[in-house]
Amino acid sequence: MQGSDPAPRYPLAVIVLHWAIAVAVSGLIVLGWWMQTIPKDPVGPRADAYNLHKSIGLSVLLLMVVRLAWRASHRPPQLPPLPLWQARAAHAVHALLYLFMFLDALSGYLGSAVSGFPVKFFGWALPDWAPANAGLKEACSVVHGVSSWALVAAIGVHVVATCYHQWVLHDGLLWRMWPRRAVNLEPKSRAA
Ligand code: HEM
Ligand code: HEM
Repeated sequence: MQGSDPAPRYPLAVIVLHWAIAVAVSGLIVLGWWMQTIPKDPVGPRADAYNLHKSIGLSVLLLMVVRLAWRASHRPPQLPPLPLWQARAAHAVHALLYLFMFLDALSGYLGSAVSGFPVKFFGWALPDWAPANAGLKEACSVVHGVSSWALVAAIGVHVVATCYHQWVLHDGLLWRMWPRRAVNLEPKSRAA
């Protein structure tokens, strides 16, 4: 039970979602920058990389919808005792991570939908509902690029903060998002 657990955790399904999205988003960022360096001629390898990026990006969008639905209907496990500013900062960074991920995925999809090329999801062509629009495509590309940089910055703060808690404060924050049993965090004070 969470009430008797010294380090309450997120439910396993949320932990699996968190790490699946973290791995996919990291891959998307690398792939997103790298794929644009692939020569346009011959067209195949570049198109394949773009299609893979779009398919993984749309998968992340779907997983994010599931995750947001869980988050909107559940309370996260209670934080360990923290100064108020740190608790507020953690919530603000989490909110920014959600915001930039949605902005990134939605701008990527909308830009692709109006690009004049079919958007394929792992080979399956999605409904072509929008006419080509070069101006809107360009605007979406700018939003996509900026939100990607903003996401990288938010992830950087998030990871540094987690490492600080884990290896400087030793408050076991990482175990809240890790599929293992909670550990006894204060063996000395318990033994005393
Ligand atoms: C692409 C990379 C990542 C993204 C997008 C991401 C996103 C998020 C989000 C949105 C939350 C808030 C969960 C909620 O309450 O709804 C969260 C929590 C958490 N993440 Fe990440 N994360 C990433 C990578 C990492 C990494 C690399 C670590 C470990 C070093 C990590 C450790 C944690 C921990 C410990 C929590 C729980 C924090 C708490 O309970 O206050 N995350 N993450
Ligand atoms: C959270 C999900 C996503 C992340 C983190 C992400 C990340 C990135 C990054 C870092 C770039 C390079 C940006 C630049 O050079 O300015 C990029 C480019 C691109 N992404 Fe994504 N992406 C995501 C979702 C999507 C989706 C869902 C699509 C389309 C269905 C998409 C389509 C594109 C395209 C077409 C480019 C090439 C540049 C452009 O035309 O704007 N992305 N992405």
